[in-house]
Amino acid sequence: MSNKHVFTWRTLAIVAGAALVVRRVVRGRIPAPVPSPDSGRSGARGLKLLVTAHERLADGVAGIRLEGHGLPRWEPGAHVDLVLPSGLVRQYSLCGDPEDTSSYTVAARLVEDGRGGSREVHEQVQEGTELEVRGPRNRFPLVEAPSYVFVAGGIGITPILPMLRALPEGTEWRLLYGGRTRASMPFLEDVEKLDAGRERSGTGVPPAEGRGRVTVVAEDEDGLPDLDAFLADLPEGAAVYCCGPEGLMAAVGERLPEGTALHLERFAPRTTAGGDGEFEVELHRSGRTLTVPAGSSVLAAVRTELPNTPYSCEQGWCGTCQQRVLEGEIDHRDELLTDSERGDSMLICVSRARSARLVLDL
Ligand code: FES
Repeated sequence: MSNKHVFTWRTLAIVAGAALVVRRVVRGRIPAPVPSPDSGRSGARGLKLLVTAHERLADGVAGIRLEGHGLPRWEPGAHVDLVLPSGLVRQYSLCGDPEDTSSYTVAARLVEDGRGGSREVHEQVQEGTELEVRGPRNRFPLVEAPSYVFVAGGIGITPILPMLRALPEGTEWRLLYGGRTRASMPFLEDVEKLDAGRERSGTGVPPAEGRGRVTVVAEDEDGLPDLDAFLADLPEGAAVYCCGPEGLMAAVGERLPEGTALHLERFAPRTTAGGDGEFEVELHRSGRTLTVPAGSSVLAAVRTELPNTPYSCEQGWCGTCQQRVLEGEIDHRDELLTDSERGDSMLICVSRARSARLVLDL
């Protein structure tokens, strides 16, 4: 087992069960995110859908079916925003049938020490609850490639499962699916069924002639997967997809040869508010100047003066806290805003200042 592993499946308990931020990386070069045609941020218009099933899929994972009429079709990798009864917005990968225009299916992991969204989904949302659903949108699209390599950690299987189902017959692919325990891994049976003639290795050794294409690694039984072995001898031009904890994605990225296309979907933002230096924020219309201390956010400072300032996710996913910036250099820390939006606005829950002062149109 490589000592380069820097993650444990246990970290899945820390990150949310919601699909959040995606980036596409070519190993050795990190281009600006390239939005897919339907990747625009959800506007205010959402559909009111009825929860018609709310069931346990695995330990700590709830499967939710939302029904409506004439729902937009979606592509594998897409997610929707659920507006919860409290007003919190959480994003979940769609994991049902993309052609089904009467229902959407998502899976949500309960985050015990989270910020309340996943607990609300588990404990407040039930059959008969009506939820506003925004999207779908797709920042994790399945690109054309001669072959595919997938790595999923726990709830990270949700965007990958529809991809596996969509691959044309004869496509070369392999999947490493890991989790803390088999009981905590949703869709395990579905994944294993996709692997005709499978042979559960529990090691991460890449498939070869006559072996299965799916490797399931449960940490309590098998330890950590051998990513070096799984990612060795990548086929020429293979597209690598990874969804799971940050440490897993970093570990996969470290092991890819230069030039390999790596597609990532995060379950938590790469950077969060805090940790950097102090700066000032002037609220232009209010005529007040505030200090944003290290370890705190612009949003927190602004809300001391303007407590009704809107926000929801506090992690740079939903766009609710977007504000216009009149002066100053922004340190953008989200992956949601478009380049043109970044010119004069920021998400004040995560982004900070590169200059000593920002002036907001508030
Ligand atoms: Fe959601 Fe800031 S509150 S992006």
